[in-house]
Amino acid sequence: MALQMTASRHHPALVALHWLLALMLMVALAMGTFVLSGIPMESPEKIGALRGHMVVGVLIGFLMLVRLVVRLRTRHQLAPSPSSGNPLLDALGTFVHLGLYALVFAMAASGMATALLTGLPDIVFGGSGGAVPANLATVAPRIAHGWIAKGIAALVVLHVLGAVFHQAVRKDGLMARMWWGPR
Ligand code: HEM
Ligand code: HEM
Repeated sequence: MALQMTASRHHPALVALHWLLALMLMVALAMGTFVLSGIPMESPEKIGALRGHMVVGVLIGFLMLVRLVVRLRTRHQLAPSPSSGNPLLDALGTFVHLGLYALVFAMAASGMATALLTGLPDIVFGGSGGAVPANLATVAPRIAHGWIAKGIAALVVLHVLGAVFHQAVRKDGLMARMWWGPR
């Protein structure tokens, strides 16, 4: 038991989920910003693009939830993160981690709210043959979805800078905590 208290890496399931989610989230952010939102509402390609985006988006929300459960359940096994050397930066690191969880959940929720408010599930998956409604661009959760995307992108930039700082400047082996290996 004492050994478990000092595990120097995250649980392997959490490592797998971290990197899978990092990939899925970055693809969803890039595709949403640069492809999906640029396709005109009346284009025949819009429904197919929305279908892919909505499936991946819901999956991201679900996997993030699984990840949070794994994280909370394995919390007691893990040694604390190495310090950045500055209490304010350490607090920023914690804030960024919590912020990522919160904003990813908010992203999935606002996407689902947008879809429900505009009748998208039926149009996209129900084969009702309906067109994408024009108010998709203007409902409140859709506007929030766009802003939250920018917030996530900003947090990811801070997060990667933090990882690089630990790895290159502090040389404290932080990256190994988020990789597989003996714990
Ligand atoms: C969309 C992309 C990403 C998201 C949403 C994300 C999210 C997170 C979250 C929430 C944590 C905290 C884990 C926890 O304690 O619950 C974490 C840890 C970590 N992430 Fe990321 N991450 C992303 C990309 C990256 C990238 C690209 C890198 C490397 C350059 C990275 C390196 C790390 C490391 C090393 C940790 C472990 C920190 C520690 O053990 O104290 N992450 N990540
Ligand atoms: C949680 C992960 C998700 C990410 C990272 C994501 C990302 C994005 C991004 C970046 C945009 C474009 C925003 C803009 O340019 O203003 C977008 C638009 C959109 N997303 Fe998501 N999304 C996610 C989940 C969802 C979910 C779960 C749904 C619905 C079930 C959804 C439905 C939509 C819709 C309807 C649009 C608007 C498309 C348009 O205006 O043309 N998203 N998403």
